[in-house]
Parts: sequence; C-alpha cells; structure tokens
Amino acid sequence: MTLSAGTPESTFRPDLLAGKHALITGGGSGINLGIARSFAAHGCAVTLLGRNLEKAQGAAAGIQAEGGRAMGVSADVRDFAALQAAAEQATSEFGPLDIVLAGAAGNFPAPVDGISPNGFKTVVDIDLLGTYNTIKACAPHLRAPGGNILSISAYGVPVPLQAHVVAAKAGVDALTQTLAVEWGLRGIRVNAIIPGPIDGTEGMARLAPDEKTRQKFIATVPLGRFGVPQDIANAALFLVSDAASYVTGVILPVDGGQNMLGGAPQYMMYQQMGLAQPKSGNTQ
Ligand code: COA
Repeated sequence: MTLSAGTPESTFRPDLLAGKHALITGGGSGINLGIARSFAAHGCAVTLLGRNLEKAQGAAAGIQAEGGRAMGVSADVRDFAALQAAAEQATSEFGPLDIVLAGAAGNFPAPVDGISPNGFKTVVDIDLLGTYNTIKACAPHLRAPGGNILSISAYGVPVPLQAHVVAAKAGVDALTQTLAVEWGLRGIRVNAIIPGPIDGTEGMARLAPDEKTRQKFIATVPLGRFGVPQDIANAALFLVSDAASYVTGVILPVDGGQNMLGGAPQYMMYQQMGLAQPKSGNTQ
C-alpha cells in the first residue's frame, strides 16, 4: 500500500498538514499506523506512542524511509506520568501539538461471564481512561486555537462478546462530545471515528481469525467488503483539516454502513456461530 501524498491514491492535497505535529497513541501498527503514514505523507510530523518502544521506533523508521518526519516514544496509556513525559519528549523534538490522536486500544472477544473483573477493568483502563489520560497529558502542549483531538471509538451499538469494549467506547464517545462543548471556545475541535471491520489489523485478526468468520463479518457490511486502513486515514485527514473547521463533537462511523444497521448484524452472526443457546425453560 502506498500512502504518498500527491499520488492518485490520495484525495487530499500533498501539503494539507504541512508544518503540523501529531501525537498518535497506538501508532505502531494497524489503523493508527495507517493514519500516521497518511498524516506524514501530507506534511505532518508524527510522534508514534506505544507500549513497546522498539515497535514504535520501527514504525517511525518506516515513515522516515517514506520521506516523512516521525519518531517513536514509549508509554502505556494507563500510566499518566509516562504519557506526560512522552508528550514533553515529543514536543521538544517537533514543537507544540496540532493533533492528538487517541488510538491505543485493547480488545479480545469474550462473553460477560467469561471475563474476569480485572479483564473488564483492563479494557476500560486502556480504552477509556487511556483516552482521557492521553488528552489530559497532551492538552498543555496542544495549540489553541487550532488544535484537534481525534479518538478512535468502536461500534456505538450493542455487540455480543464485546461488552467491555462497547462500555469503554461509549465513555470515549461521551468524553468526545463533552470536551467538544467544553473546549469549543478555545478553538479546539474534538471528534471521533468508529471504524468498521478493517482488514489486516490485529483487532480484526482477533475477532475473525479464520476465513469462515471473515465471510460472516463481510455479510454484516452493506458495502459488502472489509475496509482498509486508508479508509480510516482519509476520514481522519478530513476531520483534522481545515475542511472540517466547523465540525466538532462528531462520532463518525467509517464502516461501509454497518453501524446504520445497529447491532443486529453482529447479533445474528453470534447466533449463527452457535455462541448463543437459549436456556431450556427460558420464557423471558
Ligand atoms: N478473554 C478473557 N479475558 C482475557 C482475555 C481473553 N481473551 N485476554 C486477557 N484477558 C484478561 C486476563 O485474564 C486478565 O485478567 P485476570 O488477571 O483476571 O486473569 C486481564 O484481561 C488482563 O490481562 P493481561 O494480559 O495481564 O493484560 P495486558 O495489560 O498485558 O493486556 C489486553 C491487555 C488484555 C487488552 C491485551 O489483549 C492487549 O495488550 N491488547 C493490546 C492490543 C489489542 O488489543 N489490539 C486490538 C485493538 S482493537
């Protein structure tokens, strides 16, 4: 996949984010790395933050090899002090932040009665508190007016085996909209993206590990295909660009229309896969 600006694959002008700096959590792989590569290809310096420093630095080296400005830094989004230090490190290299992208997430499929309280808490800590920690640690370095906060949410509808994620991401959505209201007068825009099933990501590999499950996933998408990281990157480019200067508090599904159907497709998939069996005698 080529992500260079100015190629026929990019809808956006090459200097769309020239001179800007984005800090991207979970930036070492998947959707977030796709966004990082795309931001860099459009002139933005990117700081990739991840738990694993080698992975973040490796991803940054890949972007540098493509001609972009990038560095990798290490922090766990559950560790506020580590995030503060990483934000300092990032801004001493590339200057104040124009964009904060809270993308780090933890996910695995598990039923409510198959996950421990600590498992549930772990996902809430990474997805919801991690998003809050990221925004809080980066806020003092975020340009105002003109700053952008973008979070990667999920679903927006009930999905079996994902209660921990759905609950955490509902909090991310509420945080997004509340901050959009609270920081609007500072000239900071706050938005979120709900990605649909995106091929080639760690999350998708966990949720659909075999071809049969992949086909079932595709059947839940009105556009009839998996997305690719560039689909999410394009939406992110739009939301952080001046083209969206009057857009804030939006939680944008980029999912081939899946979200429009509510949670029904995933619920039917769950039943078809034999994961839900009625209890005998159930009259509820
Ligand atoms: N089903 C049920 N519970 C699970 C689980 C699974 N598949 N995977 C982990 N857990 C539970 C663990 O059992 C543990 O609970 P316990 O202490 O009561 O046993 C708890 O979650 C924490 O697990 P641990 O491995 O110690 O946490 P971690 O901080 O190292 O990892 C995760 C966090 C669990 C979210 C891990 O999946 C992860 O690191 N994910 C990051 C990458 C990712 O998920 N990417 C996809 C994004 S969409």
